[in-house]
Amino acid sequence: MRPTDIHRRHAAILLPSLLLPLLLTSCQTAGPHSQAALSFSVYDNQANQLLARMTLEEKIGQMIQAENTGLEDPSDVETYFLGSILSSGDADPEAGNSLKAWTDMVDALQQRTQLTRLKIPLLYGVDAVHGHSNVLGATVFPHNIGMGCTRDPELVEQAARVTAREVRATGIQWTFAPCIAVPRDERWGRTYEGFSENPKLAAELGIAAVRGYQQDNPANPLSVLACAKHYVGDGGTVFGSAQEGRGMDQGDTRLDEETLRAIHLLPYPPAIEAGAATIMPSYSSWNGLKCSGHKYLLTTVLKDELGFEGFLISDYNAIKQVHPNFKVAIGICVNAGMDMAMEPTRYRLFFQYLKELVEEGVVPVSRIDDAVRRILRVKFAMGLMDPDRPLLADRRLHKNFGSEAHRRVARKAVRKSLVLLKNEANALPLSKNAARIHVSGKSADNIGNQCGGWTITWQGQSGPVTPGGTTVLEAIRKTVSPKTKITFSENGTGAEGADAAIVVIGERPYAEGLGDRAELNLDKEDLQAIDNLKKARIPVVVILFSGRPIIINEALEQADAFVAAWLPGTEGQGITDVIFGDYKPIGKLSFTWPKSLSQVPLNIGDQPYDPLFEYGFGLSY
Ligand code: BGC
Repeated sequence: MRPTDIHRRHAAILLPSLLLPLLLTSCQTAGPHSQAALSFSVYDNQANQLLARMTLEEKIGQMIQAENTGLEDPSDVETYFLGSILSSGDADPEAGNSLKAWTDMVDALQQRTQLTRLKIPLLYGVDAVHGHSNVLGATVFPHNIGMGCTRDPELVEQAARVTAREVRATGIQWTFAPCIAVPRDERWGRTYEGFSENPKLAAELGIAAVRGYQQDNPANPLSVLACAKHYVGDGGTVFGSAQEGRGMDQGDTRLDEETLRAIHLLPYPPAIEAGAATIMPSYSSWNGLKCSGHKYLLTTVLKDELGFEGFLISDYNAIKQVHPNFKVAIGICVNAGMDMAMEPTRYRLFFQYLKELVEEGVVPVSRIDDAVRRILRVKFAMGLMDPDRPLLADRRLHKNFGSEAHRRVARKAVRKSLVLLKNEANALPLSKNAARIHVSGKSADNIGNQCGGWTITWQGQSGPVTPGGTTVLEAIRKTVSPKTKITFSENGTGAEGADAAIVVIGERPYAEGLGDRAELNLDKEDLQAIDNLKKARIPVVVILFSGRPIIINEALEQADAFVAAWLPGTEGQGITDVIFGDYKPIGKLSFTWPKSLSQVPLNIGDQPYDPLFEYGFGLSY
């Protein structure tokens, strides 16, 4: 990573005390909820009283997060006094993926806590990273990369609020979001999870998301806990530094501390200030040392220096990556400051080993107490410990799950996220009254490609993955006049005689390291579809679905108009809103768009900086 102007500029204002006022001033317009920072330590008394009554086993149980599908027996919730359960991207309820199945499953597990002596409710966590997108029929929002192009903190906050309601409808009270990574190399398979390569924009929208999820009051029954992730440097890993030398996800971020702070740490102080109740340490390493076991990063910086009062949740099976001996790894991570362990299947072993480590004096009881106090005070702040509050899901929220009102917010996010990269001879907007429009491309009628990863499954998948949404083809049909004829061919043939063509191309779904790419070319079939359309000698509008800037030169050259639509989610009408002129395109690139792979990584502030489209680019009409 080259030292850059932006690094130097930020390096000069490193101290959080100086940084925070600056960032918060720029975010005060973010929404109606600007107020004093949320404090979790005000619940210390209540947490301490409970802590004093707890056995070591009960304390260790609070520090464990198992997975619904990994439970050896559902009764382990009470046997091991579990503090939390998660469902990761592929962990569906046994009864399927419906809203009802999710709610029933969560309620059933939650009810088990009432069989324990202390009846401490579970925190249930899920990756609602662009809507409650594990559940069939949820409103699916654009991935963060698109939200970054909206430059609209109020909209990000609103989207998070809608997501929180849909999550709450299933009885879940915690989302592992927002991802406030600052991705600096688009070969990373998680680029789309970040708002921007610009740490300031990631910070600003990160605050908005935290506010939207938590609504400045975790006791609000319509809010969910936020989790700022992945701390720290997840977006800065070096290509080739991942395990087994492949790719970069979970790899090594090789930066001096000043640069790490200026780029990758920068969004954290404001997220903490906004009240983020939880933070997830990153799988990745900083200069060769795993963040999950990094005492300086977790305790010295995050808790002592930045005053983080919430709790740290390890990433999925991340602890075992810290040392080949699981027990040793647990000792390192807990002593480094990890408070809760995401141990989908190995939770029994974690329980046993951590108990032994305490008995052997390797992990001091004071560290256990600190971790449990942090977890309990969040539970108190949420009102979860209040015996008068309903323990189970509020099923009245079901009627608004995936509702029109929720989808309207997502549609607005889609149309504001679109970045118009080219518009020759006013190819856009198209007329709704054209006699015939020809639609093409593998993604024109493909809600799965439109949503990307983290949709119904971890990796996402092509095809009709979730009901209730609208593909681009369907959106076009809904938008044009009744007289307009819409024809469709996936490969772009047969367009002759149409007034214009719309072709939807791009990446297929992926998530995390499986999306790491050494090259960033368009698929051959995409280029072929454009070629075929060009033969019809009509204006060709290209819409690109992608989780990052990719190499588009050839397609861009051929296109009359080119729209970067990112991974917009279920609301295809946000796209037709813009291409048929009901709304002007206003999205601005949240990432630099490279000319060639040899330029990558290329980021705002780098010298030389000669991209295809610079950070902030976006046309309108
Ligand atoms: C990801 C996290 C996610 C967790 C739980 C991990 O693989 O890195 O971002 O929250 O899984 O699904």
